[in-house]
Amino acid sequence: MSNFLVTGGAGFIGSALVRGLLAKGASRVAVVDSLLTGYERNLDEVCGAIDFHRVDIRDYDALRKTMAGIDVVFHEAAIPSVPRSIAEPVPSHDVNINGTFNLLRAAKDAGVRRVIYAASSSAYGDTPVLPKVETMATAPKSPYAAQKLMGEYYMSVWASCFGLETVSLRYFNVFGPRQDPTSQYSGVLSLFISAILDRRTPTIFGDGETSRDFTYVEDVVGLNLRAAEAPASVSGKVFNAGNGGRITLNQAWDLLQKFEGVAIPPIYGPPRPGDVRDSQADTTAAVRELGHSPQVSFEAGLRATLDWYRSTRNRA
Ligand SMILES: NC(=O)c1ccc[n+]([C@@H]2O[C@H](COP(=O)([O-])OP(=O)(O)OC[C@H]3O[C@@H](n4cnc5c(N)ncnc54)[C@H](O)[C@@H]3O)[C@@H](O)[C@H]2O)c1
Repeated sequence: MSNFLVTGGAGFIGSALVRGLLAKGASRVAVVDSLLTGYERNLDEVCGAIDFHRVDIRDYDALRKTMAGIDVVFHEAAIPSVPRSIAEPVPSHDVNINGTFNLLRAAKDAGVRRVIYAASSSAYGDTPVLPKVETMATAPKSPYAAQKLMGEYYMSVWASCFGLETVSLRYFNVFGPRQDPTSQYSGVLSLFISAILDRRTPTIFGDGETSRDFTYVEDVVGLNLRAAEAPASVSGKVFNAGNGGRITLNQAWDLLQKFEGVAIPPIYGPPRPGDVRDSQADTTAAVRELGHSPQVSFEAGLRATLDWYRSTRNRA
């Protein structure tokens, strides 16, 4: 296998990708992360096997240096939150758009072969058709969604104008071990799991019938690895990175109560601006062109994630 760099590699998905690359026998894995929302502890078990660079992706010179000899970059670094992009649009824009622009410039200048980009299903917005197909028109509802979509456009343009191979993977609500549950901007399942383990009442924004194609992190890692190996004919394209299912927030909370054998009715709050109502991936193109093969059902992934959070609490 080749030499890899993971931006945002100390984050939830990035650190899983780092472990996945090492498990596959990668010759070299470098990580770039500013530790804004990521943690070095996410890389504890692999720290001897990687090169960690505490670098901000907006710093071109520092970023360019980390790419010497790198073949494939997985670009996970971002400020990854819809509500945070509304509360703090300036840093969100700067990292998600200017940082991504910088990343592409540095990759091209350093002779990187391919960049795989963590795009977002939020690009679809509230378009009424389900499941979402890559050929549908996009309709971003938040600064975050617009920023991630701009990143896709830049990926495609770098492929067509500058000869850098790029692949954009639109992630659909990824969940699993190491997702940070400590911020108001955390992913909903990490907040639900924290609440159930504390026997706390969660707040659900909206009526709980909001639905998501929750995708287990190992399936997203698997798809990234396949995208790195796919033929050059995939370059410049965008693929859904989802499981193909659809679960409401009420169903997710019900399942957690069942797993734990407790009854804790949630509190319902007003819907949050920028949140889309329903989301579900059509995985046809990713299956056909990248060999996408999600392995983990929502229920199995949720149980594994719950067990992981419980075991890390018990160790603390
Ligand atoms: N989690 C999801 O459901 C989901 C869905 C769609 C897309 N994504 C995308 O996947 C990627 C990873 O998200 P995640 O859920 O692992 O979030 P995360 O917050 O755990 O990871 C993001 C990482 O980027 C780092 N980072 C932020 N700003 C940086 C900067 N300026 N320079 C260098 N590093 C910086 C953070 O420190 C963190 O380690 C993001 O690009 C996000 O937009 C995630």
